[in-house]
Amino acid sequence: MDIVVDGLRRLEYRGYDSAGVAVVGDGELLTEKRAGKLAVLRAALADGALDAGTTGIGHTRWATHGGPTDRNAHPHLSSDNRIAVIHNGIIENFARLRAVLEADGVEFTSDTDTEVVAHLLASIDAPLPEAMRRVSRQLEGAFTLLAVSADNPDMVVGARRNSPLVVGRGDGENFLASDVSAFIAYTREAIELGQDQVVVITPSSIEIIDFAGVPMTGTDFHIDWDLKAAEKGGFDHFMLKEIADQPQAIADTLLGRLTDHGIALDEVRISDQDLRDVTKVFIVACGTAYHSGMVAKYAIEHWTRIPCEVELASEFRYRDPILDSSTLVIAISQSGETMDTLMALRHAKQQKARVLAICNTNGSTIPRESDAVLYTHGGPEIAVASTKAFLTQLVACYLLGLYLAQVRGIMYADEVGAVVRQLQQTPDLLRDLLDQMDPVRKLSRDLSSARQVLFIGRHVGYPVALEGALKLKELAYMHAEGFAAGELKHGPIALIDDDTPVICVVPSPVGNAMMRDKVVSNIQEVRARGARTIVIAEEGDEGVRAYADDLIFVPRVPTLLAPLMTTVPLQILACEIATARGYDVDQPRNLAKSVTVE
Ligand code: G6P
Repeated sequence: MDIVVDGLRRLEYRGYDSAGVAVVGDGELLTEKRAGKLAVLRAALADGALDAGTTGIGHTRWATHGGPTDRNAHPHLSSDNRIAVIHNGIIENFARLRAVLEADGVEFTSDTDTEVVAHLLASIDAPLPEAMRRVSRQLEGAFTLLAVSADNPDMVVGARRNSPLVVGRGDGENFLASDVSAFIAYTREAIELGQDQVVVITPSSIEIIDFAGVPMTGTDFHIDWDLKAAEKGGFDHFMLKEIADQPQAIADTLLGRLTDHGIALDEVRISDQDLRDVTKVFIVACGTAYHSGMVAKYAIEHWTRIPCEVELASEFRYRDPILDSSTLVIAISQSGETMDTLMALRHAKQQKARVLAICNTNGSTIPRESDAVLYTHGGPEIAVASTKAFLTQLVACYLLGLYLAQVRGIMYADEVGAVVRQLQQTPDLLRDLLDQMDPVRKLSRDLSSARQVLFIGRHVGYPVALEGALKLKELAYMHAEGFAAGELKHGPIALIDDDTPVICVVPSPVGNAMMRDKVVSNIQEVRARGARTIVIAEEGDEGVRAYADDLIFVPRVPTLLAPLMTTVPLQILACEIATARGYDVDQPRNLAKSVTVE
């Protein structure tokens, strides 16, 4: 039980509205499950009643079908209490399957799609692995399933389609989990499974078959993540640690990729000729990753002159985008498991586009299904609100944009040279910036009682405004909106009344004086209507002081790289406001770190 619960603790970021466990011992199946965070389940387990078993499964849930209640928490049991099942994903045909089972007299005890699996497994008169194979063939949708049975005390059976599941190979013990972090304390040897496979583990064996029953072999890999990297390292929250990790994360992402001869991205296994043939780039992503894609559009179009569109992954395939083999689709995802992004990627592949993933998680599904991958080396990101993943995604996008320009022979020698030099300096600049964030912390206390906070920016400052607002929504549950600075006057300016805080991201006066002046005009517009202006500007831009109620300076970098600096005060602001309002920074309500449903 302690191994299962410890694994759940490491996976809690995937969803945490309820949790449950099942163990097999003495020919009996024992379960406990509770709505609420893992701590609630732990308290229920404190009497040690489930400690005896040596085979166990556990689950933390992010509700899809059925609210987060005790009865909807996993595991779900067959009517005779002999089989327990846990599930990630959505079984799309569950209503039909449930109707058939109910017509046969089966009584359901939850509102979940998962429960049908427990009853279906029990209805098949065959060993559990064979039953799992047959049931999996009846299911539509995405699923990772694990089942244990009181009749097979030494066995866990898993199945996967379109949802993550990895095997950990131990010594006299074996593991199954949706993410390796659940078992790296016990083994670093893992096996990657393919789609539509059933896996059966016992203490001494691992067997894999496909849904047709044909024996398969998985791909062995070694996990080199440092367990400590997944701990808080002395900070109050993972998010604060991850904000502080950003200089190192950027340095790690740049490592070996900036050379004297230009950008080296050997792992991008798409030929130079194919990259030269690209006529259009689409970027697909969700949430914070989408904002990094918006910044990438400015950089890629400017450096390569290839048209580039950015699209929310959840919308992409529904509007029938025009794709062909000369289209490059870039899928950006920290986790590599976001279902919306995965489905956009698959749509792109069906239309013969080339797909390149920018991803932080080795061996996850999105890079595996892409033609090429550029890994961000941010290390594990645990806090739900993304910080270091965002900055490293930006760095990966810059590298990719520069690389495309290089391969296509478009190098604006001076400008690109300056960008490359400046990229190398960003870790040091960020360290300095992080040391100067006390005024932001003080400001957070002032803003924590605001009714709403607005963010404005222009050019790459616009996605930064969106990201700043998203962070505040996610963490502080405040009404926050980001706007293109020039668009404010076309409607949203009506939101401003006395003392509305407006956070203004100002472009560099050196990089683009005209654009900077336009944003300063927009600041004056909101100030004239009573707003409290919090201005984020480049060091040395003393001219903005007259329009700023609060002024935060960030180091000077080329215009396109500015989001690497301007985002950081906004991350800290959101984290501190959430703390001041008494909220859980690492696990905000209603969210999950990795959303594996559409
Ligand atoms: C979830 C998280 C967001 C994240 C988004 C995309 O909604 O709460 O913080 O930006 O997924 O995640 P990905 O792993 O694809 O970058």
